[in-house]
Amino acid sequence: MVKEDMFQMERISTGIKEFDSLIEGGYPKNRTILLSGGPGVGKTIAALQYVNKVCESGKKCLYLATEETPEELRIQANQLGIPLKTFEDNNLLKIEPVLAERMEDIQWQRGKTPSRSILKKPIDSISNSDADSVVLDNLGSYTLDITIGTFREQLDLIVHTVRKKGMSGLFVSDETLNERYNNVALYSVHGAIHMFKRENPFTGNVERLMNVMKMRGTKTPLGYVKYIIDENGINIQSSKTSK
Ligand SMILES: Nc1ncnc2c1ncn2[C@@H]1O[C@H](COP(=O)(O)OP(=O)(O)O)[C@@H](O)[C@H]1O
Ligand SMILES: [Mg+2]
Repeated sequence: MVKEDMFQMERISTGIKEFDSLIEGGYPKNRTILLSGGPGVGKTIAALQYVNKVCESGKKCLYLATEETPEELRIQANQLGIPLKTFEDNNLLKIEPVLAERMEDIQWQRGKTPSRSILKKPIDSISNSDADSVVLDNLGSYTLDITIGTFREQLDLIVHTVRKKGMSGLFVSDETLNERYNNVALYSVHGAIHMFKRENPFTGNVERLMNVMKMRGTKTPLGYVKYIIDENGINIQSSKTSK
């Protein structure tokens, strides 16, 4: 069958070399991808590698950081050879710490009913941004005390905002986004990747694995994708693909 170009999804490099080729060239452009996993699996590193690719290609990126300060991120990136400061100086990257605001929200919530507009700040930041890509690291920070229904509504709104603005989104979620929220989140986003560690029952070694849970309009590896983290960041080791 002849594929018509106008119906093909444009791709953005993930910044993880061998991973791009496993998902037809990269994350689908102008969509939102959810990257989930427990602490220390490499979510922020994956996000930084993405930022690196976006900014290297001369595109603008907005980084909404809920857990780390911009300074901490610059240090972490520098260890991987990713020049965040240079990108910032060249007006390609804006790191917005949404940490302080989050604490205010939590304090406010303690005494009052939970805020219905808990994701208002990242939504406002995205609405006011002229960036091509947005990283939200991480989403779990916003789910404290809100109902599943409200979360779904807010997440749909933020995903919709990203798409309407012609941006591409990479949203990180950690274990604070519990199973129930995570399942809900899976429906709202275009693609979802889960990162985890597992002890290999045969070797006894702990392995790092990625599971491409969904990626609409994309041929994805069915098996887990093995990776390591070193001074270059995330490196794909193998893909046990069964098509
Ligand atoms: N140079 C390195 N060599 C090996 N592992 C590293 C290196 N740098 C970072 N890591 C690993 O990456 C983890 C941090 O990754 P990070 O992306 O911050 O995790 P998270 O998923 O919590 O965002 C560390 O806990 C460490 O295990
Ligand atoms: Mg992190």
